[in-house]
Amino acid sequence: MKEKLQDIQKTALEAIKKATTVAALNEVRVAYLGKKGSLTTILRSMGQVSPEERPVIGKLVNAVRNDLETSIASKQEQLQQAELLHRLETEKIDVTLPGRSKKLGQLHPLTQTLNKIKDIFRNMGYSIAEGPQVETDYFNFEALNLPKDHPARDMQDSFYITSDILLRTQTSPVQARTMQAHNANEPIRIIAPGRVYRRDDYDATHSPMFTQVEGLCIDKNINFADLKGTLLFAMQELFGKNVKLRFRPSFFPFTEPSAEVDISCVMCHGKGCRVCKNTGWLEILGAGIVHPNVLRMSGYDPEKVSGFAFGMGVERIAMLTYGVSDLRLFFDNDVRFLQQFHL
Ligand code: DAH
Repeated sequence: MKEKLQDIQKTALEAIKKATTVAALNEVRVAYLGKKGSLTTILRSMGQVSPEERPVIGKLVNAVRNDLETSIASKQEQLQQAELLHRLETEKIDVTLPGRSKKLGQLHPLTQTLNKIKDIFRNMGYSIAEGPQVETDYFNFEALNLPKDHPARDMQDSFYITSDILLRTQTSPVQARTMQAHNANEPIRIIAPGRVYRRDDYDATHSPMFTQVEGLCIDKNINFADLKGTLLFAMQELFGKNVKLRFRPSFFPFTEPSAEVDISCVMCHGKGCRVCKNTGWLEILGAGIVHPNVLRMSGYDPEKVSGFAFGMGVERIAMLTYGVSDLRLFFDNDVRFLQQFHL
């Protein structure tokens, strides 16, 4: 019995020593000290031990159990410590590392510019109108007083889908579309933003696809002073209160009189620089008083109402707002360029 106990003690201590995880150590504990463990089994068989031997064996059993229990306890602490150290080592985080912030998207600079233009005109009571980019010859040209053989068509060569359907060369067709969607002589105040297409070069200042904002205001007694006041206010909202406007006589088939409108150079404030080619002025839009033919063709009576119209290039405005010298940058879609701009 004594030898058996010593044997158990020896193998148990070895098993404890060999255990490398808390779970393995627990298995050792169950094998020796558990309900069916070898030491427990011996304790149960104490009945067979002679009364003289019983106290000696009993003492020995207790001593072995105490020894195993303390060994297991200290080994357990050792293993737990090691496991903790391992976790601290593998799960450590460097709180001094900069955080990974989520990249937020933002609106394209042209969209930002368009939104600003829309806000300015909405505040003056204008609403937003839209028309198709694939347009009929009738709306793009004819309804704007440009019959089939009109020489002014040469300035706007387009991409034709059929001889009567083309990619619109301007947002002006939305003027006719809007009038025809209204009852005769009803007042109109709209702007029409959108893409337009022309056969053209692709360089720092030209693109066969670009963005325009058309404007149309029709009511009783609308005159050139209304046009000037409206455009001056819009340009001052866009470029600051100090900006000046200059109207030069021009020709558009759909307006009479027509004007080319310049703003004082936003770079040099009129002194003369590379951007304004030393003139102090920048051409920014075309405008005029709506031609009686245009009103008539869309069911409006030029004897009863009059109107003004204008069309501006959004890329040009964005280039001047952000100081961008190459128009193509807006279409390259390089985020390193695009994300620099916030209005
Ligand atoms: N549609 C003209 C263009 O693309 C711009 C323009 C000029 C629009 C005069 C107008 C206007 O509404 O009145 O060149």
